Amino acid sequence: MNKKIIASLLVLTGMLGVAGYTEVKKEQVAREKPVIGILQYVKHPALDAIHDGIEDELAKEGYVNGKNIKIDYQNAQGDQSNLKTMSTRFSNENADVSVGIATPSAVALANTISDKPVLFSAITDPVGSKLIKDEQKPDKNITGVSDKAPLDDQLKLMQQFMPHLKTLGVIYTSSDDSASTEAKRMIKLAENAGIKVKAYTITSSNDLNQTSQQMVANGQVDAVFVPTDNTIASAMPTLIKNTNDAKVPVFPTVDTMVEAGGVAASSINQRELGTMTGKMIVKNLRGEKVSDLPVESIKKGTVVINQKQADDLEIKIPDAYKDAKRVDKE
Ligand code: TRP
Repeated sequence: MNKKIIASLLVLTGMLGVAGYTEVKKEQVAREKPVIGILQYVKHPALDAIHDGIEDELAKEGYVNGKNIKIDYQNAQGDQSNLKTMSTRFSNENADVSVGIATPSAVALANTISDKPVLFSAITDPVGSKLIKDEQKPDKNITGVSDKAPLDDQLKLMQQFMPHLKTLGVIYTSSDDSASTEAKRMIKLAENAGIKVKAYTITSSNDLNQTSQQMVANGQVDAVFVPTDNTIASAMPTLIKNTNDAKVPVFPTVDTMVEAGGVAASSINQRELGTMTGKMIVKNLRGEKVSDLPVESIKKGTVVINQKQADDLEIKIPDAYKDAKRVDKE
């Protein structure tokens, strides 16, 4: 009897041992294929271009999803609770690198993951959003790519396109860190240049139709500036319908929003932001530590013009921009 018990105990421990062993092995095999979590805040053409830029760069460097790397791509559809769930998902799967596209995603990842690298992509104000203290010296597990726009150039461009610009409308989402930082910078620059500014804020896309109608009513603004605003970028047709009806030109800061109905911008190439983020991921995968990777950004914008919008609104393209890049939708 005793012998029997001892024997079965031995068998049991043996089995447990084997089971334990295979478990560990599985882990190791899984880790041979690094996991990259990509968390995009919301779907709009700029963030989509950034996401494409990231994955294309990874592929170019030989990291092919499903083959030698696993990319877990998640889109939070602008929803705060999705951001939380998806960040926890990356944390649970022990992602080797987690990438946040747009401020809300990067902030959610930073709040959830502290023991693995978090790379942010296209963040307007990484310091103001408390992602990092010193862009040159990452001191936690976080670094990335900023898309701070060249607003001096953008103001100059608006003045060249609109030689009689007296009153500028500025519209942005008050809760969007990125948008409000950029809007306030532009308001200051414009006022310093002697331009009167009328600022309008929305709290969600539900307000955009009514608020933008008010903004352009009765010829009270000569032109409209739109910052990198995730909510407005997702709802450009609503804004453009109202501004076109009132014959008021819109000057956003990014190429994709010019394509969606803006007149012109001195824009940072959105895809390029993704490429840069991809390069940073690769460096990290190849052993460079977050602390060795200062925040990167694109210093110079490229002028992009929507010729059809300019024509429809009877705006003459200044000679200096005759050969600038056209981004009309066919
Ligand atoms: N900079 C934005 C942020 O920090 C994200 C963003 C990148 C964006 N490109 C954009 C927003 C274009 C609107 C339009 O959240």
